[in-house]
Amino acid sequence: MKRVPFVAGNWKMNTSLSEARQLVNRLIPLVSEVKDVCMAVCPPFPYLIPIVEVLQGSRIKVGAQNMHFEKQGAFTGEVSGDMLKDVGCTYVILGHSERRHIFGEDDAVINKKVRKALEMGLKPIFCVGEQLEEREAGKTEQIVETQIKRGLEDISADQMVNVTFAYEPVWAIGTGKTATPEQAQDVHRFIRDWLQVRYNQTLAEKICIQYGGSVNQENAKALMDQTDIDGALVGGASLKAEHFSSIIKAAVQTT
Ligand code: PGA
Repeated sequence: MKRVPFVAGNWKMNTSLSEARQLVNRLIPLVSEVKDVCMAVCPPFPYLIPIVEVLQGSRIKVGAQNMHFEKQGAFTGEVSGDMLKDVGCTYVILGHSERRHIFGEDDAVINKKVRKALEMGLKPIFCVGEQLEEREAGKTEQIVETQIKRGLEDISADQMVNVTFAYEPVWAIGTGKTATPEQAQDVHRFIRDWLQVRYNQTLAEKICIQYGGSVNQENAKALMDQTDIDGALVGGASLKAEHFSSIIKAAVQTT
């Protein structure tokens, strides 16, 4: 069974409001004919409401780039999953390497966020990936396994159907260096095998595992042609409507 591919754009801390609107207004007609691919954009918090409005009636969903694990309260500067749901978000990126490494989020915090997101009816895009030294030391699988095991603690099979994985080797993010399709496929297969052992085969076959890290319109197809690569989490190239739409179209051809 081949899964429906899912391509999401992680805008990070980029664009002005008018650029954000322009980006989605350009993207809508470029992908209006695309079928059988799930699509999402993840703008910065202040643009979620206007972007949800612009995308009303299109098939492009909206995700946030982070959330807090509490529902509400005295957490200055934070945004809850309820709030994201309330303003029309479908997805939320959790465990991104920039959150892990710049903001010190550990697996336990990420696990709380994943659990809360699922409770709120948001679909997490759960990111994992090794750093360059870890890959060079032959520790990729060990690192990824620890991140998955801890990040998904206490999550049932029923909840897991709403989780998307993003394998993002840290050394490939924003660097222009992508993992080769084979390197990525190996880790994707490892994740799927892990899911089969922890949950069951049906679930493991259903779960979408995106690749992320310098995906662009040139390398997207070769990556997504791999058996266990079901789409992409795109940073830099998602800021240009033409580039992002080409990546989405590359996902179609693999189905
Ligand atoms: P990149 O970012 O495509 O710019 O490497 C990917 C990501 O961080 O999700």
